[in-house]
Amino acid sequence: MRLSDCHNIDDFRLLAKQRLPWPVFDYIDGAADDELTKARNTQAFASADLVPDVLAGVETIDTRCTALGRTTDLPLILSPTALQRVFHWQGERAVARAAAQANLWFGISSLATVSIEEIGAMGANPKMFQFYYHKDRGLNRSMIERCQAAKFDAIALTVDTIVSGKRERCARSGFTSPPRFTLSSALSYAIKPRWALDYVFRERFALPNLDTHVREGTGEAVSIAGYFNTMLDQAMDWKMAEQLRDDWGGKFALKGVMSVADARRAADMGIDAIVLSNHGGRQLDGSRAPFDQLPEIVDAVGGRIEIVCDGGVRRGSHVLKSLCAGATAASGGRLYLYALAAAGQAGVERAIAILRDEIERGMKLLGVKSVGELTPDRLRWR
Ligand code: FNR
Ligand code: LAC
Repeated sequence: MRLSDCHNIDDFRLLAKQRLPWPVFDYIDGAADDELTKARNTQAFASADLVPDVLAGVETIDTRCTALGRTTDLPLILSPTALQRVFHWQGERAVARAAAQANLWFGISSLATVSIEEIGAMGANPKMFQFYYHKDRGLNRSMIERCQAAKFDAIALTVDTIVSGKRERCARSGFTSPPRFTLSSALSYAIKPRWALDYVFRERFALPNLDTHVREGTGEAVSIAGYFNTMLDQAMDWKMAEQLRDDWGGKFALKGVMSVADARRAADMGIDAIVLSNHGGRQLDGSRAPFDQLPEIVDAVGGRIEIVCDGGVRRGSHVLKSLCAGATAASGGRLYLYALAAAGQAGVERAIAILRDEIERGMKLLGVKSVGELTPDRLRWR
């Protein structure tokens, strides 16, 4: 299988599986416990059907979308994800360049392998920094200041990782950051020599947004669960979130809000956006899917706060359904991560092009000329 054989996101997943050592593939593909929530995130989109209008004169359409004060070419955000250098040697640089070319919102994780400064200087597209609230207050301050200096467009505080989800694939594989070559994992790396050579001989793995303050994750191998459970502040609450928003002073989102009560509280606090998300099913298994939960959130706070629907998106139609249900934009991680792992920047470019094509075709077949016309009356729940 080659890149030119990839025609949808699932194809990239298969190619990534072919090319990655299994502990790395399972880190991306895996989720918590029985992985029910991860599966439901995508299945949920089949609970509602699109109802097209015809004869709408759709020769030229406009797919642009405004979220968090910036207009992008598609209503699709590339969600922040950690450790991209492990998936492909080009890491976040590949995703940043592809996102800049396509003029999309692109998020980097606190656990990114490229610095805030370097990403900030790349491209004119809007950039989001995903903030993990650490016990180390000096580190928290440093991340805010660096985002301010690098002129990031928004900070998203992740609120659904107060402890780590139970990721059994990672427990079995012993996946750590940085990857550790143990006797038992050596074979999985040895049978993927291309990945192994790129990992060993290309630029060294680092977590440059954290390693000024902590050794864990770069200087010392830790599991992601170990990192979350020891480094992040479990005392984090609404007051701390508000203080962070005020210290940052720019566009601010909470990533991982799911309940109506929390959505209302975020809106009352004047927060710019909530990202409806269960972290791609990697945290609380059994948690509701963002798309299932979207209608009641829209009923409660729609129009008062922007609502991003994050998770399970694998098709252009999933993006269109999210917008019809009232989301400002849709967002996803694995939809570009499989492609990054499969083929670096060229892979991410191809994945975005496929989704763009699906969104455009879907809008035309729906008889819709702009994203503002994606309204609830075009969606029927089963
Ligand atoms: C993530 N996600 C994530 N979220 C976050 O806030 N900080 C992070 O560092 C990461 N890292 C990360 C790594 C990997 C490998 C994955 C798959 C996901 C969650 C991510 O932002 C997003 O919420 C999910 O990916 C959405 O689900 P889909 O689109 O992958 O189905
Ligand atoms: C994950 C992180 C790091 O989901 O958020 O693995």
